[in-house]
Amino acid sequence: MAKNKLQKFEDIANFLNVFEYTDFEDKPMPKGKWHAEVFDNANPIVLELACGKGEYTVNLARKFPEKNFIGIDKKGWRLWSGAKTAIEEPLSDVRFIRMFIDHLEQYFAPGEVAEIWIVFPDPFLRGSRESNRLTAPKFLKIYKNILIPGATIHLKTDSPELFQYTLETIESENCEITDRVDDVYLERPDDELLTIKTYYEEMHLEDRRTIKYISFRL
Ligand SMILES: C[S@@+](CC[C@H](N)C(=O)[O-])C[C@H]1O[C@@H](n2cnc3c(N)ncnc32)[C@H](O)[C@@H]1O
Repeated sequence: MAKNKLQKFEDIANFLNVFEYTDFEDKPMPKGKWHAEVFDNANPIVLELACGKGEYTVNLARKFPEKNFIGIDKKGWRLWSGAKTAIEEPLSDVRFIRMFIDHLEQYFAPGEVAEIWIVFPDPFLRGSRESNRLTAPKFLKIYKNILIPGATIHLKTDSPELFQYTLETIESENCEITDRVDDVYLERPDDELLTIKTYYEEMHLEDRRTIKYISFRL
C-alpha cells in the first residue's frame, strides 16, 4: 500500500541521507564542510533544485559515481522517494535536503557546488510572480555565490514562457549559453541525460507538451 504523507515525514526524519534544517539555530549546518564531513571525498557536488521525487539526483548518481549529488525540495514527502531508492540501492554519494532554495547560501559556502540541475520548476505564469522563477535574477545571484566559476546550470522545462523568460534573463545577465534544445524528444531522443524522466515530465509528455532544455554559465 502506498505510504501517506505523514508516514513519509516520519521516515525521512530517520533517513540518514536526508537533512532537514527547519530550525537554523538548533543544528550546525555542514556549510563549507560537505566534502570533508558529509561525503568524505573531494568529488564535485551537483545540486538538483526543486527535485520533487529526485529522479535526476538518483539517475545522475548511477551514471556518475565520481560525483556527489544533493536533491533539494521544500516538500519532504516528495523527496522521500529518491531518498528511499538511494538507501536501498545503495547510492552512497546521494543526499537530500528539505529546505527552501531561497536559503542556499546558508547551506553552501562560495565555490562549494560544481553544477546545478533545475528540472520542471514551477513556471509561475502570472506576471507578478516572475521573481519566484528559479531562473530569475535573484536566484542566479544566489547560485553564483555558491558555484565554482564557470559552472554549468541546466534547465529542463515544458513551459515555453519559462524557457523564453530564461533566455531573456541569460542575455540581460550576460550569461553564456552552452547548449540549447527546443524539443528534446525530437532533436535528442537518445540523449541519456536529457531523457531522464521525472514525475512531472511523465505528465507533461502524456499531455503532448514539448520538453525544452538549456544549459548556461553565469
Ligand atoms: C513542478 S514540481 C517538479 C518536481 C520535479 N522536479 C519533477 O520534475 O517531477 C516543482 C517542485 O519545486 C518545489 N519547490 C518550489 N519552490 C521551491 C522552493 N522555493 N524551495 C524548494 N522547493 C521548491 C516544489 O515543492 C515541487 O516539488
